[in-house]
Amino acid sequence: MRQHPPRVLSAMRPMGALHLGHYHGVLKNWVRLQPDHDCFFFVADWHALTDAPHTDEPRLEAHIYDMVVDWLAAGIDPARSTLFLQSRLPEHAELFTLLGMVTRQDWLREMPGAAEAGTFGQLAYPLLQAADILIHRADFVPVAEDQEPLIELTRRIAHHFNGAHGGAGTPVLTEPQLLVTNTGYLPGLDGRKMSSRAGNAIAMRDTPEAVTAKVRAAPTTPGTPERCGVFTLHQTYVDADSRRDLERRCTEGSVDCLSCKQPLIEAIVREQTPFRERADTYLAQPKQVQWLLELGTERARGVARETMKHVRRALHLGPH
Ligand code: TRP
Repeated sequence: MRQHPPRVLSAMRPMGALHLGHYHGVLKNWVRLQPDHDCFFFVADWHALTDAPHTDEPRLEAHIYDMVVDWLAAGIDPARSTLFLQSRLPEHAELFTLLGMVTRQDWLREMPGAAEAGTFGQLAYPLLQAADILIHRADFVPVAEDQEPLIELTRRIAHHFNGAHGGAGTPVLTEPQLLVTNTGYLPGLDGRKMSSRAGNAIAMRDTPEAVTAKVRAAPTTPGTPERCGVFTLHQTYVDADSRRDLERRCTEGSVDCLSCKQPLIEAIVREQTPFRERADTYLAQPKQVQWLLELGTERARGVARETMKHVRRALHLGPH
């Protein structure tokens, strides 16, 4: 019998401070799922190592800290959701090993990115992700659409494992469902995908001064709002009436770009105010973040151990 609301599980590789694209594309949805799901959100620090040699390992800890502060800033509530670190739960690696016994090499070779995989870790990235999901018996995995093949692979592996080692009763592994979440897509300051590397990002915790400077400096296309990168941000931040008004005045040349940018700047700063407030309490006591990750890790460990007990029994790996 189910003793908890449906479990949602998702993760991010440690990326450091997050930007508004992450907030609108991912975090807003995590926060929305929080009240009526048993949410597990974790830092996929092992997965980050598949980016080597580009992984900046000495900065990994700082990246984890900054990212988790931004989860909390977005409104992830550590009293409700379970937050933890992948590398603190060796059970993920144990299940990864055992699932490797039912995973055909060609399933991995069919995965997006497999052709460019140099290391075994890169080729097996989707298998590790499957272990992450299955070990916590997740019902739903909210991820971007491009992750769909990985969820399909997870289901396939679970299905094969249950078929080969299941016995009659309840299946050992839970086949998860994909929850597509890239509904809140937010472009960057130039209208292209927001990314820190492209230099078109606004960080979740940028100061009002930084936001003002960035938006003011962003390129525009006076007279043609439909081609203007900044105006695509108005879609998210400025109400429909004001937007139509600005669009008309831009086309007829009766509004200058700085005035058009002003309501956007104000709306972004308003959105970020609670982010900064929540983050400030954690930044004032950095140990608090470590502590809540400890608590989350212990809670997740309970679930992971329970799953491993069933998995070991199914494989006759005694004693039991
Ligand atoms: N691959 C995911 C990403 O890069 C991160 C990830 C690792 C993940 N394990 C996961 C996401 C398990 C969902 C569930 O965004």
